[in-house]
Amino acid sequence: MISKKMQEAINAQINAEMWSAYLYLAMSMDANDKGMKGVAHWYRKQYEEEMEHAFRFVHYLEEQLARVELKPIEKFKTSWKNMAEMFDETLAHEKVVTGLIHKLCDLAAKEKDYATANMLQWFVNEQVEEEANAAELIETAKCIGNDKAAFYMFDKELAAR
Ligand code: FEO
Repeated sequence: MISKKMQEAINAQINAEMWSAYLYLAMSMDANDKGMKGVAHWYRKQYEEEMEHAFRFVHYLEEQLARVELKPIEKFKTSWKNMAEMFDETLAHEKVVTGLIHKLCDLAAKEKDYATANMLQWFVNEQVEEEANAAELIETAKCIGNDKAAFYMFDKELAAR
């Protein structure tokens, strides 16, 4: 069994993952409104991934016979100036999430909660990938600049995710 404190911390992380999901769904809808269909698709997939993250934690709490408590989702913005701003904020958001995962790891280590520490390893690795993906989007957007033909190709590529 996990501690009450760990149960609360994981419930907070479920909320953070769903908050991430909502944010990416908002980005997807904004990109769609702006005619960036591939970008919209990429963020829709990202939304689905975040919900999978949330459910990994839900299943873990259920396995540990701990209570899942769904909390209200924090407010977030729903419109972005352009894709560069969207990508920058995606990386910034993922860095926040990485920090949250690392805090959970600190708590698991402090409590000598080896089962939770082991479960969290998947998330530690996942965050490396999440940050790398966002950083790649930023780099590509920088290379594209105002080149409409290059953006068209990039948008098509993202649609294949
Ligand atoms: Fe669930 Fe993008 O971290």
